Amino acid sequence: MKNKSKHWRIEHDDDGIIWLHFDQAKSGTNVLTEETLEELDGHLIEIEKLQPIGLIICSDKANGFIAGADVKAFSRIRKAEEAARQIRRAHAIFSRLENFSFPTVALIHGFCLGGGLELALACRYRVCRDDAATRIGLPEVRLGLFPGFGGSVRGPRLIGHIPALNMMLTGRTFSGRAARRMGLVDMAVPKRQFLTAARHMVLARPQPHRPTWLQRLPASGFLRPLVAALMEREVRKKANPTHYPAPFSLIEHWEKHIDSEDDMYASEVERVSKLITSDTAQNLIRIFLLQEQLKSQGRQSDFKAQRVHVIGGGVMGGDIAAWCALQGLHVTLQDRAPEMLSRAMGRAHGLFRKKLKQPRLVRDAFDRLMPDCGGTGIPKADVVIEAIFENVEAKQGLYQQLEPQLKKDALLCTNTSSIPLEVLNQALKNPRRLVGLHFFNPVAKMQLIEIVSAGNTDPEAARDAAAFALQINRLPLPVKSSPGFLVNRILMPYLLEAVELLEEGIPAPAIDQAATDFGMPMGPIELADTVGLDICLAVADKLAESLPVTVPEKLRTMVKKGRLGRKSGSGFYRYAKGKPQKPALAKGFIPPPGLADGMILCMLNEAVACLREGIVADADLLDAGVVFGTGFAPFRGGPMHYIRSQDPESMRALVQKQEKKRPGRFAADAGWDEVLE
Ligand code: NAI
Repeated sequence: MKNKSKHWRIEHDDDGIIWLHFDQAKSGTNVLTEETLEELDGHLIEIEKLQPIGLIICSDKANGFIAGADVKAFSRIRKAEEAARQIRRAHAIFSRLENFSFPTVALIHGFCLGGGLELALACRYRVCRDDAATRIGLPEVRLGLFPGFGGSVRGPRLIGHIPALNMMLTGRTFSGRAARRMGLVDMAVPKRQFLTAARHMVLARPQPHRPTWLQRLPASGFLRPLVAALMEREVRKKANPTHYPAPFSLIEHWEKHIDSEDDMYASEVERVSKLITSDTAQNLIRIFLLQEQLKSQGRQSDFKAQRVHVIGGGVMGGDIAAWCALQGLHVTLQDRAPEMLSRAMGRAHGLFRKKLKQPRLVRDAFDRLMPDCGGTGIPKADVVIEAIFENVEAKQGLYQQLEPQLKKDALLCTNTSSIPLEVLNQALKNPRRLVGLHFFNPVAKMQLIEIVSAGNTDPEAARDAAAFALQINRLPLPVKSSPGFLVNRILMPYLLEAVELLEEGIPAPAIDQAATDFGMPMGPIELADTVGLDICLAVADKLAESLPVTVPEKLRTMVKKGRLGRKSGSGFYRYAKGKPQKPALAKGFIPPPGLADGMILCMLNEAVACLREGIVADADLLDAGVVFGTGFAPFRGGPMHYIRSQDPESMRALVQKQEKKRPGRFAADAGWDEVLE
């Protein structure tokens, strides 16, 4: 076994403990593939024969223990029987590990997720590092699955039913300290005590952690149906069972089989293998892989920034500056109005407190963010981000002042949402250096950043901007400078169509309901209110200058009346404590047939147009951008994937029907013929 081993390495120490190091070949991260699992099993068979004092499983990768099972391989599984075979195999290997008579320890640093945690759960003890990089959890539900390598059995057995179900149903990950509090790990220690702690567990053999009586209680006969019903009610608030069946299947699995571990394992095999081949899981896996593809856009340059200067401390600039400081960069924030800076600093403090919690870390982040009315940070900055008013002259004037002060290699970016880059960069002596870095609002929530290039933008500057986006933990999407770029261009026709429907007399809650039934996270009317009707109007007007977009009068009147949406307390809905007060639909109201189809088709049509015009490089990047930028129903795999997954004839019929039904408001894009071929 020793010579053949590609991914695992065995070490014997003086105490008679075996250390099994996982270091997956040709990969920066450890994942459980069929090959790495089979090799692990080979080692376990050998180790069992040796009967050591103990076994410690650790990782040689800098980024963590094990990031999970091989998600790429999931996307290749076509048949449930194939998935079932692989799951049974993992069960057998993990139970071999679990049944060792000598103590076993999983030594965890960095990522310990999904299958990685399930392997750790099969060990008698778990020791982890108590630092910011440690993330422990079972996030399978985010891929439309639930833990299939024994996690749904060993999780509740170790930490109790409610905490384990919560962990699996939400897919939340935990810090080392939180995992320690839950009993998920036995020790969370600083790096210097890491190895000693693992050795201590083997030599001292403390009683393994067990849940309290109270934590075991929810599985008892009379309570179980009640707990399952409560859990289901909670999950229903967030997920529609037709779109996202996995959490519901997990609750049922627990309720029906928790009495017998054998049944639990059998049900894991049956349910997870069925889920894995479902459209939902395959599409969510696709989105996960597309997210990786977006990240790879940021790996085409090794640009690394240390200092960032943001100009414009309004809604966007202030939040961009705070986000960059949160990510460890030194940031100066400039505004011509000092009161804007103090407001931005106040918001930044709130963000740091929410995200970092520990006062020391909050203080450090705050120290990295400096208000800078005079612009002293400009000559030192590696990245300068302009986020002032959406006004050509103001932006151009600013660039003229800025350019001579910039460091030679500094990246100059604009957060403009609608002005073509080729217009803005005319003010520069070197127009090639300006790149669009289009953040979305709210900055701390929206993962996507559009990296906008004009025809004359330096491709290297665009690659550096993408690397910067990744550095600040965001997903870069390269797009061509054109009205609305990708996300707003696709979103706007859908929002405007919803407003038109409202004008036709369809109640707002019915419109929103139709969209959420399709799988959008929020209906278009509520979304327009959330974005701000003034912002929607400004973007729509801008798009209407160059695209066949009609701006509904209703939107204009609302803005004139100062009804700007959630921020002003009323828009299409009234708001109480930030929540829309949706009026109940009239009794017996039946929404017109195809209500969602009409709205969604506006998005799909625009997606087809963007692809035809080459706004993004390909259909996969388009899907990724639209899912991460607009929230387009992730379980449908993105707009282009959705189109492809439909029957071409019925899709064509839908397009034609829409064209007939909405003359002047919907024209099928020339790109459809190609897509439907
Ligand atoms: P805002 O009106 O909230 O803030 C603009 C800030 O720039 C103000 O604080 C103003 O005092 C300051 N400013 C103006 N001229 C200046 C100058 N010469 N030097 C220093 N400071 C100056 O605007 P907001 O909403 O933050 O938008 C900023 C940019 O971000 C715009 O280009 C907008 O199109 C874009 N954007 C806005 C989004 C939104 O949802 N609000 C989303 C994405 C992009």
